[in-house]
Amino acid sequence: MFPEYRPRRLRKNSSFRALIRETQLSPAQFIYPLFVMPGKNKREEIPSMPGVFRLTVDQLAGEARECLQLGVNSVILFGLPEKKDGMGSGAHAKNGIIQTAIRELKAKVPEMLVITDVCLCEYTDHGHCGCLIDNVVDNDATLEILAKTALSHAQAGADMVAPSDMMDGRIAEIRAALDENNFESIPIMSYAVKYASAFYGPFREAADCAPQSGDRKSYQMDPANSREALREATLDVDEGADILMVKPAVAYLDIIARLRDEFDLPIAAYHVSGEYAMIKAAAEKGWIDGDRVMEETLLSIKRAGADIIITYFAKDMAKILKDRK
Ligand code: PBG
Repeated sequence: MFPEYRPRRLRKNSSFRALIRETQLSPAQFIYPLFVMPGKNKREEIPSMPGVFRLTVDQLAGEARECLQLGVNSVILFGLPEKKDGMGSGAHAKNGIIQTAIRELKAKVPEMLVITDVCLCEYTDHGHCGCLIDNVVDNDATLEILAKTALSHAQAGADMVAPSDMMDGRIAEIRAALDENNFESIPIMSYAVKYASAFYGPFREAADCAPQSGDRKSYQMDPANSREALREATLDVDEGADILMVKPAVAYLDIIARLRDEFDLPIAAYHVSGEYAMIKAAAEKGWIDGDRVMEETLLSIKRAGADIIITYFAKDMAKILKDRK
């Protein structure tokens, strides 16, 4: 009790504060998303995500080397295919945009950990994460395509696959496809708890994957639900997931904390495009200090219990941490 106990004693100077700091950000635990597009020698800035670019395949190695120099050792790839169709067949094409990007990265920068997003929404002409049968996203028909997609990524050299489609049963299906083809050592990072969120808006512009009709509420989770997150995560653990992801991050810190308490697998959080865009926009207007809000936000995700943070801020934050040393 005061006056015997005075919490301010240990806040007196920066050394004391550093001594008792409970949470640290580490660039080695950031994953930086990369958007890959067709063409040559091009970088296109995404209007609603300042500082984030769509890159042609030849630009990837340079970007990856820059990440490595900052201590960011992992990237997750998203593709903009040349053509889309009803079944999303570009997602598993041997020479598809992602398969080509993986081969390029693993050939030129082999030490970079290459993770792939496994989903169909960037590859279907209707923009849904699965195939449509009678205008409904058909769960079981989609599983086979997802498994083929994950396998094609592994065959191209991906280090880990990350299914984001939210179909039921996809982790088991993908695990089986990988194991049957001697990829039993490739881990699965499951987007286990993914909400139907408006925070994905800028990403859908970046990856050109907005649904052309309807929404994703029949497969992504209702933002109002928390117990359901535990059921989703339990299913994925039982089906063989190696890492559990919560997405988005900041509006769902309670979910991250709940998963941290309930499961012993590594937990990842996806600090998504809209969360990035809001900070960038307010900082551009001069309404907040962008760098400090970035750091505070990433710390909050860590503090809630995430081990891994997927974030468009990975390079910016890593630079600040490096300069501070
Ligand atoms: C693909 C996918 C999405 C995101 C990651 N993978 C979009 C969506 O589900 O609509 C969003 C990432 C972000 O907003 O940064 N299904």
